[in-house]
Amino acid sequence: ERQKYIRNFSIVAHIDHGKSTIADRILELTDTVAKRDMENQILDNMEIERERGITIKLNAVELQYQAQDGHNYTFHLIDTPGHVDFSYEVSRSLAACEGALLVVDAAQGVEAQTMANAYLAVDNDLEIIPVLNKVDLPSADPDLVKSEIEDMVGIDAEDAVLTSAKKGTGIPELLERIVQDVPAPTGDLQAPLKALIFDSVYDSYRGVVLSIRVLDGQVKVGDQIELMNNGKKFEVTEVGVMSPKAVPRKSLMVGDVGYLTASIKNVQDTRVGDTITSAENSTAEALPGYRKITPMVYSGMYPVDNAKYSDLRESLEKLQLNDAALEFVPETSQALGFGFRVGFLGLLHMDVIQERLEREFDLDLIMTAPSVNYEVVLTTGESEIIDNPSALPEPSAIREIKEPMVHAEIMVPKNYVGAVMELAQRKRGQFQTMDYLDDYHVKIIYNLPLAEIIYDFFDSLKSSTHGFASLDYHLLDYEVSQMVKMDILLNGEAVDALSFIVHQDFAYQRGRAIVQKLKTIIPRQQFEVAIQAAIGTKIVARSTVKAYRKDVTGPLYGGDQTRKNKLLDKQKKGKKRMKDVGRVSVPQAAFMAVLQVG
Ligand code: GTP
Repeated sequence: ERQKYIRNFSIVAHIDHGKSTIADRILELTDTVAKRDMENQILDNMEIERERGITIKLNAVELQYQAQDGHNYTFHLIDTPGHVDFSYEVSRSLAACEGALLVVDAAQGVEAQTMANAYLAVDNDLEIIPVLNKVDLPSADPDLVKSEIEDMVGIDAEDAVLTSAKKGTGIPELLERIVQDVPAPTGDLQAPLKALIFDSVYDSYRGVVLSIRVLDGQVKVGDQIELMNNGKKFEVTEVGVMSPKAVPRKSLMVGDVGYLTASIKNVQDTRVGDTITSAENSTAEALPGYRKITPMVYSGMYPVDNAKYSDLRESLEKLQLNDAALEFVPETSQALGFGFRVGFLGLLHMDVIQERLEREFDLDLIMTAPSVNYEVVLTTGESEIIDNPSALPEPSAIREIKEPMVHAEIMVPKNYVGAVMELAQRKRGQFQTMDYLDDYHVKIIYNLPLAEIIYDFFDSLKSSTHGFASLDYHLLDYEVSQMVKMDILLNGEAVDALSFIVHQDFAYQRGRAIVQKLKTIIPRQQFEVAIQAAIGTKIVARSTVKAYRKDVTGPLYGGDQTRKNKLLDKQKKGKKRMKDVGRVSVPQAAFMAVLQVG
C-alpha cells in the first residue's frame, strides 16, 4: 500500500542549468531542511563541490510531500552531476528511479548534455518531465526552448514546467507534476529481497555504507544478506534514509531508496551495480549490473614521500568504492619510485581525485602528465596496449602505433561553425557530418584523436565560440597514426616520468616548447641543469637552468627576520611537492608542463 505513495526521481541537466538549485528549493518547500539550516546547493556536500560550484557525486535524499489529493507522498530525489566526465554517475542514479526531471536553462536552451542525459533517461525507461528553469532571466525564451526540446530531444514539451529556482516560482507545480507523472515503483513486497547498490562510501566506524534501491521484498537490521556478485554474506547492522542527514529506520521496503551498513570492512567486497539479496531466501536472478566504464586517460601517481605508498593504495581503494571509473595498477618509475598508474575519465576527474587524495587522505602527490592508451603493433606481429609513454618499445621493434579516436558531437549556433571547424582541423579532426537541428543550431560531428581532446580542446572550444558550443563524445576504436616518443633529459639522464608521446608533425615544435617551459619551472640549483628533448638518440631542443649564487633571502630582505622566516616557510611548503630526480630537484609542475604547451 505504501508503495503507491512513493516517487523516485532524478534531476538531470546540462551543467549549470540549475539542477542543484532546484533540489535546494524542493528540500525547502517540503520542509526537509529547516530554513535556518538551508545553505546553497545543500546536496553538494563535498568541499570540492562547494568550492567549484559543481556536482561531482550523486546524492539521494528522502522527503515527505503533502499533495493536493490529500495524501502524503514519500519522494526520493537523486541529484546528479552534469559534466561529461561524470556522466557515468548519471546513469547509475537513473537505474534507481522511475522518473527524471530534465532541467533546461530557458535562456541557454538545449545543450549537448541535455540530449545525452535525456537519452540515458529514455534508455532506462524513465518518465521524463521537462522543466524550463531560469525563466526570471530577461533573455529567457520558454517557447523557443520548448520547440528545441521537441525538435532536438524528441519529447513532448508542451506541458513543460516553468521554474525560477532562484526565486522559487514554479516549484509547487513541479511537485504536483512529480506526483501525477512519475509512476509509483513496481515490485513485490512478498518476494525475496532484491536491491541495487547504486553508490557506496567508506566510513571508518561503520565500514562500507551502501546506497541502495529496494526492488523487491524488504530488509531490516539483523537480516543476513548476500552480495550476489561474490556470494559473501553479512549481517545488517543499520538501515535508514538520508533526509538529508542519515536517519536510521527499522526496515527498507520495496520502492525505498536508502542506506545499509553490515560491518563490511573490506572495501573490495562491494561493487556499485551489484545486487543484494537475502542469504536465506535469495532472489532468482541478479540485476544486470552496470556497464564497465573504461578510463580515457592515464597518469602516474606517486607519493612525494615513498613511505606513503601503502597509504596511497588504501586511499585509492576507498575512493574506488564509489567511483567505478577509477582504475589503478602499481607501477614503478626510475625517477619517482613506487606509485600507481591511474585511469580517469578526463582531466576534471583526474583533478578531483588528486585533490580528494590530498585533502581527505592527507597525501602529497606527484602526478605525471596524462596520456591516452596506445596500441602498439610489434614487428613480431603481436600487439600490446601501452598506457605509459616510458613503456613504449624501441622504435626498431615497432611496426605501427595506433591511437584511440573519439566520435565528437559539437552543438553550436550557426555563426560559430567556422570557428569550430578551424579548431577541430587544427586538432587533427576528421570531418564527418554537419546537420541543422533547427534554424539556429548546428550539430557538427568530427572524429578526433582522444589525445587531442583530453587536454585543452573543451576550453578552446568554449573560448572560440564565446561559450556557446557544447560537446559530447564517446570512444570509437584505434587508428594507425604517426606517433613518436619524446624523451626529456636532465643533465644527460632521461627522466622516464617526463616522457610523452606526440604526433610526428608536432614533435619538434612541442619539444622546443617543453624545454623552454621546463626552464621556467625547474628552480635554480647549486649546479647548472641542462634540459634536453630527444626523439631516440636525436636531440631536438635544449636549454639550461643556471646555477644559483646566493641565499634567496639575503639580498631581498636584508635583516628583517620575520619576513625572512615567512619566505623560508614558503620555500619549505613548495619543497613538499618536489621530487629529487638524480641530483636535480624537480617540482610537480614540471611533470604537467606538457599540458601547458599543447
Ligand atoms: P552542476 O551541479 O555543476 O551540474 O550545475 P547545476 O545544474 O546543479 O547548476 P546550479 O544549481 O549549481 O546552478 C548554476 C547557476 O545558475 C548558479 O549560479 C545558480 O545560482 C544559477 N541559477 C539556478 N537557477 C536559477 C534561476 O532560476 N534563475 C537564475 N537567474 N539563476 C539560476
